[in-house]
Amino acid sequence: MEEEPIKIQIQIPTVKLGSQGLEVSKLGFGCMGLTGIYNSPMSEEAGISIIKYAFNKGITFFDTSNVYGPHTNEILLGKALKQLPREKVQLATKFGVVGVHKDGMIVKGTPEYVRACCEASLERLGVDYIDLYYQHRVDKSVPIEETMGELKKLVEEGKVKYVGLSEASSDTIRRAHAVHPITAVQMEWSLWTRDIEEEIVPVCRELGIGIVPYSPLGRGFFGGRGVKENLPANSFLIIIPRFTGENLEKNKILYARLENLAVKHICTPAQLALAWVLHQGDGVVPIPGTTKVNNLDDNICSLSVKLTEKDIEEISAAICADEVAGHRAPEHVEEYSWRFANTPYKNSNNLS
Ligand code: ATR
Repeated sequence: MEEEPIKIQIQIPTVKLGSQGLEVSKLGFGCMGLTGIYNSPMSEEAGISIIKYAFNKGITFFDTSNVYGPHTNEILLGKALKQLPREKVQLATKFGVVGVHKDGMIVKGTPEYVRACCEASLERLGVDYIDLYYQHRVDKSVPIEETMGELKKLVEEGKVKYVGLSEASSDTIRRAHAVHPITAVQMEWSLWTRDIEEEIVPVCRELGIGIVPYSPLGRGFFGGRGVKENLPANSFLIIIPRFTGENLEKNKILYARLENLAVKHICTPAQLALAWVLHQGDGVVPIPGTTKVNNLDDNICSLSVKLTEKDIEEISAAICADEVAGHRAPEHVEEYSWRFANTPYKNSNNLS
């Protein structure tokens, strides 16, 4: 008879995110992939079921955006929320990306747009408040003070509890924080995307802002996506430079190193990559996404992987960010990130 795999019961701790009183589970759940993008979209029933499963395991912090789908991701999460106790969930969504097209993104941060998006998200999610409302991408044509002014009003009206920014530069974070306290900054942060450590992380620590790393598993790379298994057809990964051609071949060497270290820590490479992010500080709450219950269980178990300072150094050195081949996003997406805050848009941004 085959032995049953050992299932460890993990108690997911609650941590403070930012300094305004928000408390979330130390591990969040990124819902983006539930409506396609990396894999084919799953059924609505399966999507709702994995959200409920995550909640029952102790994950209470769920992340979506109006642009995922678009709209369908919020609708899905809204349906799942109907079956969960609202007050025990920390619901995060975002506004600001009107759309993504082949040459770039359309971003918008005018006060009227912020308000209209918030009201539409509340409707789609079927809730009367959003716990954490992020500006998804900063609109360089609108002073951040104007966008924040409207967000502040939404907080005063009780429609939003806490405000966040995503892919904002340190200067934007400071200016925004002066208008209304920023609770969390959401950024790509993982073993192969570490550039926020130089300036953004210190600014967040100084201002008491929480950090929510997205793509903590390198969009699945650290789970073997593109290495152990081929990229699914139509996946967004096909246009990510790190997952293509020569870059991918070079990056496979990094994966092999992680795999070796995972043996030492008696865990999977994905768990080690996630544990590394989880060890970046108390106010750091990653939001890995998955469409599979087994992977979700593995991600929860990564909370039990304990790393010393020496381990963290060893892992960081093995997956040395300088050796990573290729950009983290296609150029037409990356130009809307914090790195390019002071560079004019190359591609047309106006839709209005
Ligand atoms: P994002 O934040 O952009 O969703 P991520 O969390 O870094 O990115 O990675 C998400 C990807 O990792 C998903 O495609 C997911 O694939 P499945 O839906 O097939 O699970 C994959 N993933 C998540 N957890 C994983 C795990 N424990 N092992 C392997 N792959 C995993």
